[in-house]
Amino acid sequence: MDAPATQSAHDCTTRTAGEWTWYAPGDGAEGRPRERDDGDGPAAPPDGREAGQAPGREHEHPAEACPAPSDAARPEPLRPSPLPMAAAAPPAAGSSSSPSPDAILVRRTLAEIEPVADKATSYFYALLFVRYPGLRELFPAAMDVQRDRLFKALLTAAEHADDPKTLTAYLSRLGRGHRKYGTQAVHYPAVGECLIGALTRYAPGTWSEAAEAAWVRVYTAVSQIMIDAAAEDEQRAPAWWQAEIVSHERRTRSVAVLTLRPDQPYPFLAGQYTSVETPWWPRVWRHYSFSSAPREDGLLSFHVKAVPAGWVSGALVHRARPGDVVRLGPPAGSMTVDHSTDDGMLCLGGGTGIAPIEALVEDVVRHGRRRPVDVFYGARYDDDLYDIDTLLRLQKAHRWLCVRPVVSDGPTRGLSGQLPAVVRKYGPWHACDAFLSGPPEMIRSSVDTLVGIGIPSHRIRHDALDEPAIRGR
Ligand SMILES: Cc1cc2nc3c(=O)[nH]c(=O)nc-3n(C[C@H](O)[C@H](O)[C@H](O)COP(=O)(O)OP(=O)(O)OC[C@H]3O[C@@H](n4cnc5c(N)ncnc54)[C@H](O)[C@@H]3O)c2cc1C
Ligand code: HEM
Repeated sequence: MDAPATQSAHDCTTRTAGEWTWYAPGDGAEGRPRERDDGDGPAAPPDGREAGQAPGREHEHPAEACPAPSDAARPEPLRPSPLPMAAAAPPAAGSSSSPSPDAILVRRTLAEIEPVADKATSYFYALLFVRYPGLRELFPAAMDVQRDRLFKALLTAAEHADDPKTLTAYLSRLGRGHRKYGTQAVHYPAVGECLIGALTRYAPGTWSEAAEAAWVRVYTAVSQIMIDAAAEDEQRAPAWWQAEIVSHERRTRSVAVLTLRPDQPYPFLAGQYTSVETPWWPRVWRHYSFSSAPREDGLLSFHVKAVPAGWVSGALVHRARPGDVVRLGPPAGSMTVDHSTDDGMLCLGGGTGIAPIEALVEDVVRHGRRRPVDVFYGARYDDDLYDIDTLLRLQKAHRWLCVRPVVSDGPTRGLSGQLPAVVRKYGPWHACDAFLSGPPEMIRSSVDTLVGIGIPSHRIRHDALDEPAIRGR
């Protein structure tokens, strides 16, 4: 049973799906009047609001709906890292305050190689494929998007030599994820050899016997963590899953909602994403977020936006049909709900970034522990809000949920503006957990905004930002 969390949540749910009209905070920033609903939506900010006070929000979710965090009682949440890894080091690397001699040597090489990283990367792969031609078939035909990631990860691992715990978590995930590529333990020395070959050539100024020895130790430690994690994972999970598309629904010209049936149970958490390989682009993997929480029937769903000239997204939107089979990698991502608290949740979804936000909402629904959830759904134009009806249906059914569409570029019945700027006008949010999903630039500016209005960064969760390709809007 849903109990109303707050009066405000009640306020937020009195409109019907498909009839949404929203009051935009009337601080004059947008310079034109907004349509508003029957008076039970978010209230206008009191004119006499104190400077810096977030407008209006307290009328919807009073303070008790989003209680101040009890930091002493809260378990340390998973922290999203702006880097693919926050740290890397063999155990001897020591603490951040005193990097080990190995870390110092490795960082010197990195500093030298940075301006010529592209050339070093190309040379690394050339060496790898010439010396070990059998490894070529593990990689996609065209490697423009992914090519530098392996090399960058190695460099990043070596660079951040001060947090073995985070390093191990990241590399273990990476090692498990490499199973889907067909990577085996015997491949690691070959990659290491070619890495050293590229560094020798492109960092002549800092290269020395000592530097080489340091790189060998760091690479060995990094590889061992990946190899061990992959071996352990082999005992309990497949390297990949086959999944048949059972439904393919076009929502706009460029967005499709796909539902897949995996060939065996696929365990994941709401808010996570997976990697997908289509039959049309072998060995080209891209990330897509689950748009619903784990379902009893085991089906998985995704929202995919075809980006211009996008290989995988184009195929999934324009070519895929029910009956087609794709491959899925393991689940990843730490944008998940901490069910040990009933603190408010502030969710920002831009474009198809709304998919994992819907999964999070469903997760709260299924978990049964009610808490105020505020969703800001951003898009460029009204028509791009392709799943607003789903959210409004959820809002109607759950009084603790408040959904606000935000449109940046066109006329709208919703709120106008950039997502972070609009969110800023509501609040207060400082006692909420924040969940952000969408294009990297949206995530970055939202993180800045939310930290700026007092949400501690460890309470802000978001997708990985280390992807060169961005999520469609
Ligand atoms: C953690 C995570 C989760 C993601 N979840 C989703 C999701 O749920 N739904 C979804 O649709 N996408 C999602 N993405 C994005 C997705 O992984 C791909 O990057 C996207 O589908 C493009 O892949 P592609 O192979 O079609 O394009 P590529 O072939 O990789 O790119 C083709 C060209 O388009 C450019 N490009 C890439 N993205 C865009 C864009 N958005 N707008 C304009 N140009 C672009 C590239 O730079 C390149 O020049 C997610 C990304 C990450 C990192
Ligand atoms: C310490 C060693 C290694 C590190 C740090 C590393 C890191 C990475 C990273 C970060 C990616 C990007 C995609 C992802 O996150 O999965 C990647 C992709 C990949 N890696 Fe590794 N890797 C290592 C070793 C290897 C080895 C030994 C192989 C086998 C030859 C390998 C094969 C691949 C392949 C095939 C891809 C996909 C490339 C693509 O899609 O273009 N990696 N690696």
